[in-house]
Amino acid sequence: MSELDTLGSAAIARIEAAEDLSALEALRVEFLGKQGSVSALLKTLGQMSPEERQSEGPKIHALREAVTGALAARKEALESAALEAQLASETLDLSLPAPEAPRGSVHPVSQVMDELAEIFADMGFAVATGPEIEDDWYNFTALNMPESHPARAMHDTFYFPDTAPKGGKTLLRTHTSPVQVRTMMADGGPLRIIAPGRVYRSDSDATHTPMFHQVEGLVIDRDIHLGHLKWTLETFLKAFFERDDIVLRLRPSYFPFTEPSVEVDVGFAIEAGRRVLGGSGDAPGHGWMELLGSGMVNRRVIEMSGLEPDEWQGFAFGVGVDRLAMLKYGMDDLRAFFDGDVRWLRHYGFSAFDQPTLSGGVGARP
Ligand code: DAH
Repeated sequence: MSELDTLGSAAIARIEAAEDLSALEALRVEFLGKQGSVSALLKTLGQMSPEERQSEGPKIHALREAVTGALAARKEALESAALEAQLASETLDLSLPAPEAPRGSVHPVSQVMDELAEIFADMGFAVATGPEIEDDWYNFTALNMPESHPARAMHDTFYFPDTAPKGGKTLLRTHTSPVQVRTMMADGGPLRIIAPGRVYRSDSDATHTPMFHQVEGLVIDRDIHLGHLKWTLETFLKAFFERDDIVLRLRPSYFPFTEPSVEVDVGFAIEAGRRVLGGSGDAPGHGWMELLGSGMVNRRVIEMSGLEPDEWQGFAFGVGVDRLAMLKYGMDDLRAFFDGDVRWLRHYGFSAFDQPTLSGGVGARP
């Protein structure tokens, strides 16, 4: 046997006997590393005469191939042996109950907003948004509340110290109604939108928090009248409360941005000491609950939003999302909505898998 053959079989024997991956790696370095013995042999090729190189070259290359192959084969054998050992030593008891995984829930406000979007999408409404840091022109002036208008004082507004782009004040929007103006200005008529979002007023007790949620509705088209408003609200409230016996009462009211303005009450009955929506509020043992504000969009608002009021009319409404959630899901303290108490969230939260759909039922079970 030539010297090369001896060297080769000794190397391969040691590789095949390597007990683990780190021993194998040490051997790879010993043979094939920069200073390795096989690498050193390859370097000798440079100093050989052409004839010598012709006879020795193939042998040295064959040796390197053999060592490389043996290293790869041993590596695979060691790895699969390790896997076998792991599989043999680990057990998995499939009859054990699933571990209690940390679980988030969908907040009732988000849930109700999803339900609203679903119900109104079915009636052809898109969802519009506007900024929470608003300009007093959009929040008041364009909604027919010029400076010194008494309705401004009713809004308990949070103002910023700086001046707004349109020259007035910057504020935290007190209602979602400025989205009406922004959408009309951006898109013109016809329009069918709802605008859900956060609003702010400096007010705080069991039924008022400084931040709360509203959803605004706006329809702008030709020949829109109060009948469209009533039908839309009735259809929405029946779908939302999942009852066909929802009865509405429209009462004359006043909002600067609608003319005429109507306040909408919904009939309820008292069952087991609780108010349950449904039926006429005039029936014995029943009553009316004020639910939302609405009306025909004031032509001055249409005009200030850049539309021709003789061509375009519409109706608008605004309702508290938190209040809708409380009525539907039976919570009685608004402040708990924003405490972030995990016990409350666990109790009143909704599963993220329970998406509201009209076909599956918009209402979810907590
Ligand atoms: N923006 C009113 C508020 O926050 C609610 C409202 C009333 C909105 C009548 C409307 C409306 O769009 O037509 O008190």
